[in-house]
Order: sequence, then structure tokens, then C-alpha cells
Amino acid sequence: MQYPQLLQPMRLVQPGAGFSSAGRGIGFLLLLFTTVWCLDASAANSETQASGSQVARGKYLVEFGSCRDCHTPGHFTGKDDESRKLGGGDVGFLVPGLGIFQGPNLTPDKETGLGNWTREQIVTAITTGVLPDRRILSTIMPWQNFAALTKSDAEAIAIYLKSLPPVHNKVGGPYGESEKVPIPVMKIEAPAATSK
Ligand code: HEC
Repeated sequence: MQYPQLLQPMRLVQPGAGFSSAGRGIGFLLLLFTTVWCLDASAANSETQASGSQVARGKYLVEFGSCRDCHTPGHFTGKDDESRKLGGGDVGFLVPGLGIFQGPNLTPDKETGLGNWTREQIVTAITTGVLPDRRILSTIMPWQNFAALTKSDAEAIAIYLKSLPPVHNKVGGPYGESEKVPIPVMKIEAPAATSK
């Protein structure tokens, strides 16, 4: 059996037939630049697209994760201050044996919030409790629960926090357990103390 189409003599193109070697070099560089430019553009593109949906996912998780409760002023006194949403809680939590802790400012303000934190540092704090200065967050911040977040959900939270309008609000603490503090404090009283 014959397959005439396979038996056609191939047209060989001589290397360099159309281009001088300098021409080929320039051609190659052009190709390289175009490829790099295209890769670059598509990376930038997918980053913007990804962050659009990641911001939405992060917002959803932050609302679901009750972050606003401890990190927004007014929450425990009846009305969240929406203009300072996630700009730092105004109530302290007394953790027996550890101290009094106030929910810090989670907005990207550079001086008083997370403005200088990398996305990775935020993810690490939320999921492992380890701060950039290596201090471990007290467990009133429920990082032990948040440790179960997937990497991409934890990142979406960090991306959303970084997208918030920065709120300039310096939160105090951590305070010593018996220190006088300028904010209301929630604490669990032992039964002997409450029955007095
Ligand atoms: C029950 C209260 C509470 C809830 C709910 C809570 N946090 Fe916190 N968070 C705190 C407190 C209090 C601290 C500070 C603890 C300390 O200093 O040891 C803290 C610390 C942090 C820090 C470290 C910030 C810094 O400047 O040191 C981050 C980041 C953080 N929380 C993010 C979140 C996110 C995101 C959520 C929701 C998914 C959340 N928190 C929910 C109370 C809470």
C-alpha cells in the first residue's frame, strides 16, 4: 500500500536562507521581549482578576469569622462604628494569668494598623498566632480555630484586610492583669468573687 501524500519530497528550508545571522538575532530578541511582555501582562492581569474575587472571598470570611466583634470600636457597647470598621476594638479582654488584650487595628494604616505587614505575616498571625516580632497571640484571638483555614482562604482574608480604607487608631496594650486600663474590660470572675 502506498501513501502518496507521505512520499512527497519535503521542502527543506536552509538555515539562514531568509535572514542574515544579525537579523535572526534581532528576531530572537524581539520574540523574547514579546514573550516576556505577554507573560508579564497576563500575570498582572490574573493578579487583578484574582484579587477581585479574593477580596470578596476575604470579606465573606471576615464577616463570618466575627473579626469585627473584637476589632471594631463600638461593637460591645451596642453599635459598630462602621466608619472605623476593623480599626481596632475598644474593649479589653482579661485572660487570667496572661494579661488584658484589646483587638488591634486591622486596617492598612501604616502607623497604627497592618500597613507595614506583608500578606504572609498576616496569614501567619491569623493561622499560627505568631506575630512578626515572634510574640504568640493570646488565645482570646481565636487563631487556634483559624488554623483550620485553607491557605487560599487565609490569603483572601489578608488581601481583604489590605483593601480596607486605612483607619488611624492606635490600640493600647497588651496590659498587665492588674494594670489600670483606659477601656472597659471583659473578664470571667471566679464564683467566689461573683457571689460576694
Ligand atoms: C474574640 C475576639 C476576637 C476575634 C473574634 C478576632 N480577634 Fe483578632 N485579635 C483579638 C485580640 C484581643 C488580639 C490581640 C491579642 C494579643 O495581643 O495577644 C487580636 C490580634 C489579631 C491580629 C494581630 C494584629 C496585631 O497588630 O498584633 C490579627 C492579624 C487578627 N487579630 C486578625 C483577626 C481576624 C482576621 C479575625 C477574624 C477572622 C479576628 N482577628 C477575630 C481578638 C479577636
